[in-house]
Amino acid sequence: MNKVYIVGAGPGDPELITVKGLKSIQQADVILYDRLSNPDLLDEARDEAQLIYCGKRPDHHSLDQAAINELLCSYAQQGKSVTRLKGGDPFVFGRGGEEAEVLAKNRIPYEIVPGISSGVAAPAYAGIPVTHRNYSSSVAFLSGVSKLGCDQEEYWEHVVKSMDTLCIFMGVKKLPEICERLIRHGRAPETPIALVEWGTTEHQRTVTGSLKNIVGRASELMNPSMIIVGEVVKLRDQLQWFEQLNDEAELPIPSIVG
Ligand SMILES: C[S@@+](CC[C@H](N)C(=O)[O-])C[C@H]1O[C@@H](n2cnc3c(N)ncnc32)[C@H](O)[C@@H]1O
Repeated sequence: MNKVYIVGAGPGDPELITVKGLKSIQQADVILYDRLSNPDLLDEARDEAQLIYCGKRPDHHSLDQAAINELLCSYAQQGKSVTRLKGGDPFVFGRGGEEAEVLAKNRIPYEIVPGISSGVAAPAYAGIPVTHRNYSSSVAFLSGVSKLGCDQEEYWEHVVKSMDTLCIFMGVKKLPEICERLIRHGRAPETPIALVEWGTTEHQRTVTGSLKNIVGRASELMNPSMIIVGEVVKLRDQLQWFEQLNDEAELPIPSIVG
């Protein structure tokens, strides 16, 4: 029996994978990969490696979770080295926990290789520190579609009262409801909010506003997008750097005078 590596591919920029994650791709016999793991990383795989797409896209065949679990177990039991590649961090809204549970139950050896979650990376590439000594000393990662709590009033009330910064995953389709709930539970309508679509990639787009006006401003943004709520969003005005990389590249080289 061989090992299964459950690996975080990072948030999108292929250079944001860990050294250990990259090594696990390079040595794998089989790689099962998701939609949000950057496909460029697969160029690192051995020529003989078997690549299996597990994500959900309208025009592609996709595997359900039970089928993925079964493949992980059966390839490992055949003695193959298996890498399960997931976007961001496998244990942050990545179902990596469920896959590890199945491996543990079947006594299959595994390692977890953490990745940089989009919950911190998308804000960072938008110039938004999720904590800051002057604005926020706590941050919560929430799901817009979680099985636990997302439709419960007490859950939102608790989160709104106890946390400074909120990073909301999978929430873009529910943006109007999310804003309405946050206001109803005590966040000021003027509270700053940002959406970062395809964070850390060349397609990154960021829209900012307040809880009362963001729905109109961000209507074009789609999945995958990170929603960031809290005073830290204001720092983007000073700290945005990623968009300027391209601007800098296009700046004319100043001529030397004199
Ligand atoms: C199933 S969750 C996976 C999260 C992942 N495990 C992580 O740690 O980043 C998918 C959600 O993560 C967020 N997400 C993933 N990649 C993103 C990116 N590059 N930019 C913005 N949000 C992203 C979006 O909210 C998306 O709907």
